[in-house]
This record gives sequence, structure tokens and C-alpha cells, in this order.
Amino acid sequence: MTALKHYLQFKDFTREEYEYLFERTRWIKDKYKRYEPYHPLFDRTLVMIFEKASTRTRLSFEAGMHQLGGSAIYLNTRDSQLGRGEPVEDAAQVISRMSDVVMIRTFEQDIIERFAANSRVPLINGLTNEYHPCQILADIFTFIEHRGCIQGKTVAWVGDSNNMCNTWLQAAEVLDFNVHVSTPPGYEVEPERAGLYGTDHFEQFADPLEACKGAHLVTTDVWTSMGFEAENEERMKAFADWCVDAEMMAVADPQAVFMHCLPAHRGEEVTAEVIDGAQSVVWDEAENRLHVQKALMEYLVLGKVETK
Ligand code: CP
Ligand code: NVA
Repeated sequence: MTALKHYLQFKDFTREEYEYLFERTRWIKDKYKRYEPYHPLFDRTLVMIFEKASTRTRLSFEAGMHQLGGSAIYLNTRDSQLGRGEPVEDAAQVISRMSDVVMIRTFEQDIIERFAANSRVPLINGLTNEYHPCQILADIFTFIEHRGCIQGKTVAWVGDSNNMCNTWLQAAEVLDFNVHVSTPPGYEVEPERAGLYGTDHFEQFADPLEACKGAHLVTTDVWTSMGFEAENEERMKAFADWCVDAEMMAVADPQAVFMHCLPAHRGEEVTAEVIDGAQSVVWDEAENRLHVQKALMEYLVLGKVETK
């Protein structure tokens, strides 16, 4: 039996574990592309709990579990007892007695911490206000596929210091690369909120163009994340100059790629020219959610598996 392990934030895993996961992802993806069945999680059940909307996360986890031979059950706050005040600790006790792995998309990180503390099975963070580790797992795998090792490289983050940004900062520490962050005044990174206490892997820039200079990967995200809709109007004004455009891509490394976790808003955080342009790898990035999460679920449920 494998030791109980959760994936609640990027720094929960070591660099060695990521190296293993990226190797497994490659293997699982190649097998899938050859239409070869692979069912290591036959008869296992994934429960997915969504307290916020999703397209990619639901689809990639549900399809991924099916492809690994198991099944997935979707719960949301609207039609489960979670939306009617059942304590998360009680829900964790019950749900984890009937499943093999659980994924939650919710608001505060504290909610998944409390679930994990009461769960008998591995728990995966499918996005919280603070972090989105599965997305950065896919993003880094995508970078490796296109450009090789990320160690020593520079990622430019333009926009909100949100869950994606926080997770990039954690990843930079674990995998030893640099992040240049540029946010509007008042939206700067708070290292403690990002789960960092002293780091030399990131630098803040007032000017987004400066942040993009020489970057190997330029990335951004929505100006208003889920749960922050009440701030939308003031954010639209504050973020107007933090739109990734051709000028920003032109000062980046000539081989730079553009990423966005999606959904995107053309004309807000990124121009159509950039997201639909030659440097954009957003569709590979989205697809890789499927492959990395299959490797992640396999690892959490079965532990390390030898690559044949
Ligand atoms: N990138 C991402 O997590 O997308 P969804 O919100 O559609 O799941
Ligand atoms: N930062 C965004 C990511 C969506 C996938 C949000 O939290 O809404």
C-alpha cells in the first residue's frame, strides 16, 4: 500500500518527483497517441467537486480517469449537501470512504487543507483562490516539449498576482528558474500569500515591457479571477496597460513561447495577434492538462510505476 500523499500546492512535490512525473507523462501521452489502452486505475473512482465553473479541468480529469480504466463522479455545490452547509470535514470522511482519489476546485486554500486532513485518499487541488498546481504542471511539461529543460530560464508573468502567478513562483523555487512579474500598482505579489518566505527566484517590474525582456516564456491570465467578480470594473481600468501584445513578445527571447491557462479574453489580457500567433502554444498547453493529470493520478494512487 502506498503512503497517503496529496497535491494541494506546487511545493508539495520535490524536483525529483516532478522529473518522474514528466517522464511518466511523456510515456502515458505517447501510448495514448498510439491508441494503446492503458488501464492501471481499472475499477478505481475519482470524485470531482466543483465549487467554481470549469471546462478544461472537468474534462481533463474525467476523460483522464476514464482512459486509465476508472470512472469519475462529478459533484457541485448546487446539487450536493456541500452547498447546504455540510462541514467539509464530514464530507471528506464520507467521500473518501467511497472513492480512490478526489479533486476539488474551490475558494480558499483552507477548505482543501481541511478536506485533506480528514481524507483517507489522495486529494488534488483543481484550483483555489491561492493556487492552480495542475495547470502549472501542464505548462512546464509543455515548455519542456517545445524548448527543453526549464531550469535557469526566465518566465515573464504579466497581469494579476493571482493563483496562477503564485503557483509559477512556487514552481520557480522547486525547479530553479526565474519569474519576472509585472502587475499594476496595488496588485503586486505578496510572497507570503504565494507560500514563499524569502526567495531569490523572482523579481517585480513596474513596466510589463521590462519584465518581458529576454524572457523564454511570456504568460498571463484573466484580469478578474473567479470569486473576484465584484472587483471587475475597477480591475478593467487598473489592468488596461497589462495586455500582452506584439511589442512585449518582440523584446522577449526570439524563441519565446506564449502561454495562457484559458479561458482567454482577446483584447484584454492578450491581443488576438499574440494568442493566435506563431509563438502561442496554448492548445498544446490545454491538451497537456489531460496527460499530466493522468500521470499525477497514477502516482498518487499507485505510487511510482516503472516505465517499461
Ligand atoms: N485552465 C483551466 O483550469 O480551465 P477551466 O477553468 O476551464 O477548468
Ligand atoms: N485565475 C483564473 C484561472 C482560471 C482557470 C481564475 O481563478 O479564475
